[in-house]
Amino acid sequence: MGLAMRFSKHLGLLVTICVVAFSVSACANPLPVPPSVDALPTVTRKPSYNSCNTGGPHVALTFDDGPHPQLTPALLDLLARRGVKATFYVIGKNVNAHPDIVARMVAEGHEIGNHTMNHPSLPKLGAAAVSAEISGTNDAIRNAAGVTPATMRPPYGAITPALTRRLNDEFGLSVILWSVDPQDWKIRKAGHVSQHLIDNAKPGAILLAHDIHPSTIEAMPAALDALLAKGYQFVTVSELITRDRPPEPGLQKP
Ligand code: NI
Repeated sequence: MGLAMRFSKHLGLLVTICVVAFSVSACANPLPVPPSVDALPTVTRKPSYNSCNTGGPHVALTFDDGPHPQLTPALLDLLARRGVKATFYVIGKNVNAHPDIVARMVAEGHEIGNHTMNHPSLPKLGAAAVSAEISGTNDAIRNAAGVTPATMRPPYGAITPALTRRLNDEFGLSVILWSVDPQDWKIRKAGHVSQHLIDNAKPGAILLAHDIHPSTIEAMPAALDALLAKGYQFVTVSELITRDRPPEPGLQKP
């Protein structure tokens, strides 16, 4: 065996060892370990959120427009099997039709948020109609599950600064938008939805999905299993907000 050949053989072995060592260390501790949520000081809520800065591997998975009589229970089953907590932005009229499903969500540790009674674009409504949409949904959720929402999601993401202030001040609701959108309402392909969530999730992200499309439910096992394998922790939106912190001074952009 020539010197060059022997060298390249050793080099190959060295590269293999490095790759294996790197993979093992990357798998063992991919993301920082966060403190217990109970140990955190309370923070002042912001008027609205697209994502949070938790300093840990947390993401909030959200489902809008349900509950759906068949798809939502199937989703709850697959979330429960993985110990994943989610937040459901429910439509009030669907809550009144399926209150037992909303009660189950709460019993299984999920958060319920307000997504209005009839899914209108809120900026197009007068003040009284906005109040009816919001308070009607809060009443439906209270009747179904005995909880009052702390967060809301405006239909279509349509919101104004004045409406945000009203929702904060009059109803105690933080406005929750999102940072990852697989457009599952439009692209009804499970493979697309799961891959978009896997590729775009980041620590502190708020993931948007809809539990009224079969393709979205079908996307969840692959998406959840891949994100859990990467080390992500699924928390409710309110827990994500509780963990939100200002960026480290050194990381602030000038
Ligand atoms: Ni919606």
